[in-house]
Amino acid sequence: MDKRNEKDEVSASWILDRINPGISPTKLIGVYDEICSNYDKNVVILDYGGPSTAAEEIANMVPEKKRQQVRVLDVAAGTGLVGCHLHKKGFTNIDALEPSEGMMNILKKTGVYTLKYQEFIGTGHSTVPKGGLVVILMRLEFFLTLDEYKDKMENFMDRLEKTNVWRKEVKKTVPNFYSGKEGILFIYRVL
Ligand SMILES: C[S@@+](CC[C@H](N)C(=O)[O-])C[C@H]1O[C@@H](n2cnc3c(N)ncnc32)[C@H](O)[C@@H]1O
Repeated sequence: MDKRNEKDEVSASWILDRINPGISPTKLIGVYDEICSNYDKNVVILDYGGPSTAAEEIANMVPEKKRQQVRVLDVAAGTGLVGCHLHKKGFTNIDALEPSEGMMNILKKTGVYTLKYQEFIGTGHSTVPKGGLVVILMRLEFFLTLDEYKDKMENFMDRLEKTNVWRKEVKKTVPNFYSGKEGILFIYRVL
């Protein structure tokens, strides 16, 4: 099997088949619990460039000498790849929000996160101080097609912006999130 076929094989059998548009949040988290131990390995095989792009965008917003002060919340943090890239760039106040226990256990081992919230986005326990940043990096297709996210998630984030909770600094698609598919990256600054 050449490298390309191997990649396709991994992506097809690994996660795509397990997630359908109507999947419930609990079932979705069950999928991540199931695949968590293979996640980082697959990300490497699939040339997943999203976390480094997210960290680069945040680094562009914060001068080097301020990176130890600004607080960053990594939402849907998975195994903590975004945090690891941020840490390499000098950030030391990184928190994580991740509902899957399996993913969270791997994330904790990275040692780069301070506060860890094992919860779903919008459930309200995580806090970010004024001036802090919130980063959300996920697969574009899931954002657009899963019933739990499409319309609802961006509406929720827009409402927070309209009520001056935060300001959107970055919204961009990220090429090659996995196996040539795009990701979506949001970065918000808390007001
Ligand atoms: C693709 S994975 C990890 C993405 C991570 N940002 C990265 O770059 O590696 C997506 C993560 O989103 C989490 N997730 C799914 N639904 C969520 C929700 N409603 N709120 C917060 N996190 C969620 C999953 O548990 C999973 O770990």
